[in-house]
Amino acid sequence: MRDELKEILISEEEIQNKARELGGEISEHYKEAFPLFVGVLKGALPFMAELIKHVDVHLEIDFMDVSSYGNSMVSSGEVKIIKDLNTSVEGRDVLIVEDIIDSGLTLKYLIELFHYRKAKSVKVVTLLDKPDGRKVDLVPDISGFTVPDAFVVGFGLDYAERYRNLPYIGVLKPEIYEG
Ligand code: PRP
Ligand code: MN
Ligand code: MG
Repeated sequence: MRDELKEILISEEEIQNKARELGGEISEHYKEAFPLFVGVLKGALPFMAELIKHVDVHLEIDFMDVSSYGNSMVSSGEVKIIKDLNTSVEGRDVLIVEDIIDSGLTLKYLIELFHYRKAKSVKVVTLLDKPDGRKVDLVPDISGFTVPDAFVVGFGLDYAERYRNLPYIGVLKPEIYEG
């Protein structure tokens, strides 16, 4: 798979160090609480797994599967619930865990949904932020790395469901998605 990438943007070690740093920040923030971490499937799975290792407070995890992209490269603007939470967010301190924020549409939808369901607080942590892709005004509470407007894959991020298993973040060669 490495030869299908133009470059590696963020190494495995940089991701681990960042997860440790953000985990410390999150532990401090929720030291009086019992937060509910909501991982947004599928992309957030590796980051969720790495992040919680570095969070030193009692917490609960749950997952929601929403999709806005399908197999296409451009956001349709539609957010679909594929799998809802098992847990009620009412009265809970919710931390949404994302791999990347691009247009912001997925998160805008989830934040509004959790407020509507009467969460006590809703915050967002994302490993990657791509501010150039924004279509709605949305700033993550905690963010790992800012990435350029390139096609990034790996560590949960896919192109047509592939590359999620790469332990680092890379930029796909254009010939891969241009066919
Ligand atoms: C990707 C990514 C984020 C979302 C960000 O998920 O994992 O969840 O898009 O894009 P946005 O800010 O433009 O909404 P996708 O919908 O591709 O599903 P996946 O996580 O299963 O790949
Ligand atoms: Mn996702
Ligand atoms: Mg995707």
